[in-house]
Amino acid sequence: MSIQRTAVIGSGLMGAGIAEVLAKSGLDVIVREINDEASAAGRARIEKSLARAVEKGKLDAQARDEAMGRLRFTTDIGELADRQLVIEAASENEAIKKSIFAELDTVVTDPDAIIASNTSSMPIIRFAQSTSRPERVLGVHFFNPAPVQPLVEIVSSVLTADSVRDSVTEFVAEVLGKNPIQAQDRPGFIVNALLIPYLCSAIRMLEAGFATKEDIDAGMVGGCAHPMGPIKLADMVGLDTCLYAAESIYRETGDPAAKPPVLLSRMVDGGLLGVKSGRGFYEY
Ligand code: CAA
Repeated sequence: MSIQRTAVIGSGLMGAGIAEVLAKSGLDVIVREINDEASAAGRARIEKSLARAVEKGKLDAQARDEAMGRLRFTTDIGELADRQLVIEAASENEAIKKSIFAELDTVVTDPDAIIASNTSSMPIIRFAQSTSRPERVLGVHFFNPAPVQPLVEIVSSVLTADSVRDSVTEFVAEVLGKNPIQAQDRPGFIVNALLIPYLCSAIRMLEAGFATKEDIDAGMVGGCAHPMGPIKLADMVGLDTCLYAAESIYRETGDPAAKPPVLLSRMVDGGLLGVKSGRGFYEY
């Protein structure tokens, strides 16, 4: 199957980045949001990132305009009927995601369509089981910022068909130009199983007064050649996303390293979500 007609559910940090990647790859993309305000914010996010790509010499103005021309925003999920690939990138709430999968199952008419989730750590099988076609559901997990980060985790549940896994892997590599890796449907898959305990440890270090956030970040940038330190990275990922991922991994594995630090919970309760809200551990 040659995938041309795609859709992304949600245009937050990840949804907007994924929609941009799909549009820049020459695909027709519908972005579904819950209201016009959220659609406008998603569009602005994509325009800003495309402008930055032009500024950085990664894209010319014509390619930017063509990419924008391939994107259509809607609040009506019914418009996704003819889609061949839908990537769900709603907020990390299992109940919301399950209901989106159930809705997509009734709306998307093509029996060969593939329905994917960009969840960072939730069980893919639960979303698959919300549909009547669990063999056509899998995880396609991008990294933030999606237009820049080359990796995509392909996450097969115990029911994902091998043919679906293979065709999505090929699509990600050949059409999107990304580097796919194969992960099992386990908490945090590969990257977040390693990353989330690391970010939680850094926040615990800060919480305990062990070191300043600037020194923790400088330590990992200067000492280990990471492009950014863990406190700044948590802000960039989104503190709410970090919290939900940590809760999800901790609930299933009991790994004490993934136990969400109290400070992280309090900050999320306080609306301090990082870059996306203008303030997290740092101000933006
Ligand atoms: N579009 C296309 N390319 C862009 C771009 C854009 N909007 N913005 C930047 N770039 C390119 C730049 O041209 C540059 O490319 P070259 O290396 O070829 O020159 C590269 O991206 C880096 O750009 P800059 O050096 O200007 O740095 P920046 O400040 O713009 O961006 C960063 C920095 C890419 C975010 C970098 O700091 C980084 O990689 N940080 C770590 C990010 C990370 O770890 N992400 C994973 C988060 S975990 C996650 O997402 C999973 C989860 O489920 C929680």
